[in-house]
Amino acid sequence: MSFPHSRPRRLRATPALRRLTAEFRLSPAELILPAFIREGLSGPAPISSMPGVVQHSTDSLKRAAAEAVELGLGGIMLFGVPAVRDAVGSGALDPDGVLNKAIRDVRSEVGDELVIMGDVCLDEFTDHGHCGVLDANGGVDNDATVQIYAQMAVAQAEAGAHVLAPSGMMDGQIGVIRKALDDSGFHNATVLAYAAKYASAFYGPFREAVDSQLVGDRRTYQMDPANRREALLEVELDLEEGADMVMVKPAMSYLDILADVAAMSPVPVAAYQISGEYAMIEAAAANGWIDRRRAIEESVLSIKRAGANLVLTYWAPELAGWLQNP
Ligand code: PBG
Repeated sequence: MSFPHSRPRRLRATPALRRLTAEFRLSPAELILPAFIREGLSGPAPISSMPGVVQHSTDSLKRAAAEAVELGLGGIMLFGVPAVRDAVGSGALDPDGVLNKAIRDVRSEVGDELVIMGDVCLDEFTDHGHCGVLDANGGVDNDATVQIYAQMAVAQAEAGAHVLAPSGMMDGQIGVIRKALDDSGFHNATVLAYAAKYASAFYGPFREAVDSQLVGDRRTYQMDPANRREALLEVELDLEEGADMVMVKPAMSYLDILADVAAMSPVPVAAYQISGEYAMIEAAAANGWIDRRRAIEESVLSIKRAGANLVLTYWAPELAGWLQNP
């Protein structure tokens, strides 16, 4: 006797049927490219632990932003790598600091055709590498830090950022930033809250990308990977404070969190496929252990399937190219 084919099996019979019945698909408009700009570079510099990703010079960043527009990407998330750091991260507030200048340059290059996002965090700017300023005991001073974030967000909005993205996991950061933006007349400046951000080992390559000075870890402010329920509380707090969009980070090891957040969030949900996720797939592919393109597409699709509306991924330009010419 032979079994009749099941309904799902019949729908897999040809590529056209599979394409027609796919529940999720990717599009360039929902992809956000994270990009690094390093002060003083005359051309792009490779990041060894992230093959294919560079620290940009001013010119190469402008080209990358223009290319992102051509590819139909949704946005670009900018991270600055300053030449000089200090204890309080002064470079973050300087209108001519590396990140603020990069935002201005990208805005003049692409205008409103691409959503320009700025990282609102001090870790790239402090000489100790923590996401905030330190108190007398060497701990991160939450309240002093959020006041600096507020000024940083206003400086980035003045430079032309459409979206401010606080990634430091300080308490109260969203409310303080929202108020500062409104008080400065930036009523349309949007806040993308890194709401559920975990203290992850997979940030490793990013530390090279931003030349991080951190000794130790961020476990007193970023979430414990052991916790699931807590993510909902973090998201609720950020929503109460006025977050326009919320993010789960990292993505692949936190798809359960992403699904939980997607189920309850009334605002768009972003997920950040981080440096270590990128590096793992690139390394395995370079060894011939996995099919690179299929692994990249599958990984980003899994993030969408779990519920992300927006995906930050270093593969955004390449993926968009594949989507334009399958
Ligand atoms: C902090 C920040 C980090 C990343 C984005 N913003 C590093 C950290 O929290 O340690 C990591 C992104 C990545 O790994 O791709 N400003």
